[in-house]
Amino acid sequence: MTFVGEYKPGLEGVPATLSSISYVDGQKGILEYRGIRVEELAQKSSFLEVAYLLIWGKLPTQEEIDSFEHDIRYHRRIKYRIRDMMKCFPETGHPMDALQTSAAALGLFYSRRALDNPQYIGEAVVRLLAKIPTMVAAFKLMRKGNDAVQPRDDLDYSANFLYMLNEREPHPLAAKVFDVCLMLHAEHTINASTFSAMVTASTLTDPYAVVASAVGTLAGPLHGGANEEVLFMLEDIGSVENVRPYLDGLLERKAKIMGFGHRVYKVKDPRATILQKLAEELFEQFGHDKYYEIAVELEAAVQDKLGHKGIYPNVDFYSGLVYRKLGIPTDLFTPIFAIARVAGWLAHWKEQLGKNRIYRPTQIYTGSHGEPYIPIDERAVPLGDPLEQEGN
Ligand code: COA
Repeated sequence: MTFVGEYKPGLEGVPATLSSISYVDGQKGILEYRGIRVEELAQKSSFLEVAYLLIWGKLPTQEEIDSFEHDIRYHRRIKYRIRDMMKCFPETGHPMDALQTSAAALGLFYSRRALDNPQYIGEAVVRLLAKIPTMVAAFKLMRKGNDAVQPRDDLDYSANFLYMLNEREPHPLAAKVFDVCLMLHAEHTINASTFSAMVTASTLTDPYAVVASAVGTLAGPLHGGANEEVLFMLEDIGSVENVRPYLDGLLERKAKIMGFGHRVYKVKDPRATILQKLAEELFEQFGHDKYYEIAVELEAAVQDKLGHKGIYPNVDFYSGLVYRKLGIPTDLFTPIFAIARVAGWLAHWKEQLGKNRIYRPTQIYTGSHGEPYIPIDERAVPLGDPLEQEGN
């Protein structure tokens, strides 16, 4: 096969699809869902309305959103067999691994691959949006040996999730802030997990496999896993005075500063700006967090040292501080990102089905040709560990 074009590591800047779901201007710091600025949605909308907008391509009428919310509310429960399966997961396992396995397990229970049937698509959308939060909350309790808390039909999406997680009804401000966090994480063009969802979708497999593969991709520290790493880093820094020496140490070691930098944004991520304001609202209502001051100082220090390279806070930098104030354990930050991003993954799944062609890029082969097959007893013995050879 002849290769046409230039090889771009990480496919940077290579268009992989045509999409009308979201738009990012990384120079101006603009993010739009279906053409609407994310700042306006964060102020006026709700996560489920945003999910509807992303997946079905338009803002819903009152009747449409009522029916969507109603369907999701009554599909929140998960099968006892899935709960039983989750009880067998090791308690030390990462919640993202638990979520990936549980999301894939949904495919065992619901009729597969009627991809040309709009009813199947609608039901899969509802099931995934409804059940993923229940699975995240269930694993949090089950890993401590407790039973999962059943969803409460009288609570809306975000309030119900926080209720299932903490076993008590959340303060209305906590539920509202959490809902805005979900809106901000719902979609972000062709990031790694969305691309992974699209590749999986292009094989015409079922939507549960699509979401499970995307969850696996989101788990990595260069993607969704960064929000956890930010909190570990802030804890490690420990004080405002230690920010600049700590940063110098990272830069000397050429280590990445978690929560900073982005393939597309070369200015502060607009979601980071909104999340920072939400964090401040929470601290005002529920009390101060010393790690916030460390974070603000770190942002200033990184701007001094790396601003010229376009390295600014991304969505993960302030989200961890918000979740922490909401009483959410650090290792649930990425699963919460997944709860939100299910909306975007499903929107891309649906868009992919509408114009599907299986993804099958090419490669530039860099190996050799015509090598002989060497019998095993003639193969060179590896040198092994040089330290051992020296008798150390
Ligand atoms: N800390 C320090 N330097 C960073 C940086 C960070 N967080 N992010 C990028 N840079 C620097 C790189 O060292 C590189 O410098 P160089 O040109 O002098 O070698 C330059 O910026 C380009 O970085 P690169 O890794 O090639 O960018 P990318 O587009 O491949 O990577 C990320 C984007 C998000 C993977 C990267 O910024 C990163 O690892 N950030 C930290 C993890 C994170 O927060 N992820 C969440 C993303 S929403």
